Amino acid sequence: MGRDDDLQALRDWLAADTPPPPLDRWLSARVRAIGDVRRRAEVSARWMTALGAVCARGTAVTASRVGGARFVDTIRTPDDLVAAWFHEGSPFLRAVRRPIAGVASDLPLAERLVAWGVPPWWAPSLARRDPAFLARWLPVQQTRPPLWAWGRQDAADLLRRDGWTVREVHGALQITGDRPVESSRAWREGLLEVQDLGSQQVADLVAAAPGEAVWDACAGTGGKTVRLAATMAGKGVLHATDVSTARLDRLRQRVRRAGLQHVRVGVWDGEAPIALPREVARRGGFDAVLVDAPCSGSGTWRRNPDARVRQAPGPQWAALQHTLLAQAAPAVRPGGRLVYATCSVCPEEDEDVVAAFLAAHPAYTLVHQGLHGAPEVDADTLFAAVCVRAAAS
Ligand SMILES: C[S@@+](CC[C@H](N)C(=O)[O-])C[C@H]1O[C@@H](n2cnc3c(N)ncnc32)[C@H](O)[C@@H]1O
Repeated sequence: MGRDDDLQALRDWLAADTPPPPLDRWLSARVRAIGDVRRRAEVSARWMTALGAVCARGTAVTASRVGGARFVDTIRTPDDLVAAWFHEGSPFLRAVRRPIAGVASDLPLAERLVAWGVPPWWAPSLARRDPAFLARWLPVQQTRPPLWAWGRQDAADLLRRDGWTVREVHGALQITGDRPVESSRAWREGLLEVQDLGSQQVADLVAAAPGEAVWDACAGTGGKTVRLAATMAGKGVLHATDVSTARLDRLRQRVRRAGLQHVRVGVWDGEAPIALPREVARRGGFDAVLVDAPCSGSGTWRRNPDARVRQAPGPQWAALQHTLLAQAAPAVRPGGRLVYATCSVCPEEDEDVVAAFLAAHPAYTLVHQGLHGAPEVDADTLFAAVCVRAAAS
C-alpha cells in the first residue's frame, strides 16, 4: 500500500456526495494494519496532512458560500485538491490551515465546523454546547497551545539560566525555547513535569492532601499521578492503575524520575471493583478516586489535530466511561470524593455520563462539574465532575 493507494482512496472519499464518516475508520484501520513501526509513523504523518485536505473539502464549500478565500478558484475537482495536498507551501495549504475570517454565524453548524477544520460528523454532539462557547472554542482549535509544565524547587530559574523563556501564569510554567525541554537540566533532574494547563487544573480538583489514600484509576502514563503525588507532598498512599501495561511502564519511569516513593502501580481493567489494599480497606476505602476516562479526545484537537478525523463521537465511549465510573465507585470511602474527567467536549461523554452515574448511585452528590482549559486559558479542554459519597450514618 503506497501513496497511490492513499490518493485513490482520498479521491473516492472526496468525491462522495454526502459527508463520509467512514474516513476515520478507514484511516485508523489502515494505519493500525501496518506492522512496521517506522512505516506506520510515516503513513500516519501523511494522513495528518490529509486532514488538511479533508477540512479543505468543507472549507471550499463553505468559502464559496461566504464569498471568501480566493484559493477556492483553483480547486475545481478532487484531483486539484489532492495535488494541492502534496504541494507544501502552496497558497491552498496555507489557506486551509488558516480559519476563514467571518464565517457566517447563521450557517448550519456542520458547515461552520468544516470551515474551522472539524469534520461534520461532530456537529450533532457539539450542537449541544452553548453557541457562545462554540463561537470562542472553535477558532482556538486551529492554533497550537503553548508548552505548559509545572516545576519543583527552582525548576523555573534553572530553565531560565539554561536559555528558556519561562512565564509563570495561572500557577503554571509556560515555556518557550528552541530546544526540546527534555534536554534541560531541570527536566533531567526530575524537577520539571510537562503537563497541559487544563490537565493540571483537573488533577487539582481531586484536592489530594498529604496523608490521604488516593487512587488514580486510569492513570495512563502518569501525567496526573505525579501531580497528585505533588499535592500529597509524599505523604499517604497513592495507587495508580491502568489497563495498559505499556503505559504503566512509562508511568513507573516517570515516577522514578520524579523520585516519588509512595506511588503503588498495578493493572486494573475496569471490569470489576478493585480489591482494596489492606490499609485502604481499614479506612473504609480511598479518600479520593480519579477516573480520567478514555474518550473521543475532542478537547485535545489542538495537540492531536488528526484525532478529529480518526475519532467520532458515539455511544461506545459513554458505555465504557459509565462502566469505569460504576466499578470505581465502591472504592470511595463514605464522605470521600469521586472525580470523573475526560478530555472531551462532547456532552454525551461528560454531563450525560455523570447524570447516569448519579441516577444509579444515590449515595453520591454532585458538587462541581464543568469544562476547564480552552477557551478560558490557552490549553486543551477537559471536563471534570466532582462527586462526594454520603458519609456513613
Ligand atoms: C485519558 S487517558 C488517562 C490519562 C492519564 N490520566 C494522564 O493524565 O496522563 C485514559 C486511560 O484509560 C485507560 N483505559 C482504557 N480502558 C480502560 C479500562 N477498561 N480500564 C482501565 N483503564 C482503561 C487507557 O489505557 C488510558 O491510559
